[in-house]
Amino acid sequence: MSARLRLVADRAAAPAEHPPATDPLREEPGPGAARCLGLYAKLAAGVTVVTARGEDGPLGMTVSAVTSLSARPPLLLACLRDGSRTLAAVRAHRAFAVHLLREDQQDLATRFASPTTTAVERFAGTGTRHVLGVPVLDGSLAWSVCLTEDVRRYGDHHLVVGRVAAVHVGGGRPLLWHDRRFGALTGPVPDAAG
Ligand SMILES: Cc1cc2nc3c(=O)[nH]c(=O)nc-3n(C[C@H](O)[C@H](O)[C@H](O)COP(=O)(O)O)c2cc1C
Repeated sequence: MSARLRLVADRAAAPAEHPPATDPLREEPGPGAARCLGLYAKLAAGVTVVTARGEDGPLGMTVSAVTSLSARPPLLLACLRDGSRTLAAVRAHRAFAVHLLREDQQDLATRFASPTTTAVERFAGTGTRHVLGVPVLDGSLAWSVCLTEDVRRYGDHHLVVGRVAAVHVGGGRPLLWHDRRFGALTGPVPDAAG
């Protein structure tokens, strides 16, 4: 077979990137949002606070949907709800920080999640400095400042990809979120690593 014919044949054999519009599996109604939320509640996750520079000062929110995406280049992934004030700042200023909370920072997590708490109230009582122009909170288990690489809407959330530009890793146990409750690990306290 000529090289050109082989190319055409390979293309024809390659799986389609998107399933055909008539895929019967996609026409099934699915389990519904309530059942999916029940599933999501069973995902155990670390608790983070994502911060960004807003027009009128620092903004931040509690986020459990954070994960490592790539080491080379270093990329982090966070899922932020549509309409979030913090998301707007992450987009506008093209940078954000992720703080992994310690087990004793439950109050901080609750404050940064409360819809009735102003940005100023969220940051009150917590030392803050700026790294690469982004507000960084004192006292977390570890933090990273990221440059916003991509923001893409999926359903009612936005997937935010950040390129890691600065990192600090401390010691201690992480604050966890599971079954709509805070939790903590047992066992020896891990040392700082990094
Ligand atoms: C433990 C916990 C985890 C949360 N995880 C997320 C998350 O992953 N993504 C998200 O968009 N909101 C999450 N939230 C809700 C936000 O923190 C909340 O909507 C916040 O008020 C948004 O703030 P903002 O609109 O000022 O940015 C979480 C709340 C809690 C208590």
